[in-house]
Amino acid sequence: RRIVVLISGRGSNLGALLEARLPLQVVAVISHKADAAGLGLAQEWGIPTRVISAEAYAERTDFDRALQQAIDGFAPDLVVLAGFMRILTPEFVTHYQGRLLNIHPSLLPAFPGLHTHRRALAEGVAVHGCTVHFVTSELDRGPIVAQGVVPVWAGDDEASLAARVLSMEHRLFPHVLRAWVESRWVLEANGHVRWRDDS
Ligand code: GRF
Repeated sequence: RRIVVLISGRGSNLGALLEARLPLQVVAVISHKADAAGLGLAQEWGIPTRVISAEAYAERTDFDRALQQAIDGFAPDLVVLAGFMRILTPEFVTHYQGRLLNIHPSLLPAFPGLHTHRRALAEGVAVHGCTVHFVTSELDRGPIVAQGVVPVWAGDDEASLAARVLSMEHRLFPHVLRAWVESRWVLEANGHVRWRDDS
């Protein structure tokens, strides 16, 4: 099983996936940011990297088409957004329908979009977490594969809560991808992900 990972920066989720030594091949790491630290991490692991600079494309659709061509050059079975901070066009999302996963730092459908930890604290929620979901044209609203829950403590600030969620992300994403390789979950036609009950 071949995956391409798209990143925008630090790449800590990429690092967690690599450290997990999953029974799959990360065939490339691609970013729109030449200075994304995760590119250096990929190179340390001997993984091919590509940079598709958004500035080089006048239209979002042109960027997405160049990104798609770079991805398809590696013939992945799955495309994984790991800390990827761009909105993708409907054409791109349609092309990877059912083959495009993202990890979002909240318990969707709560807190789609940005600044999720700040918003969770403002709302006074008792639990927070992260979601691995399929990407659809509606931002942060695709079929949910799995979620990881963390408690919110009284003394939490945005940084402490973000750190607790991030360490849960680093457990959840490898768990989901290992289960993907082992066919322990499947995206059904009704748009729901079903886990085999012996998982
Ligand atoms: C993570 O919180 C992830 O959920 C969000 O981007 C943040 C940074 O991810 N999408 P990474 O450290 O670059 O993997």
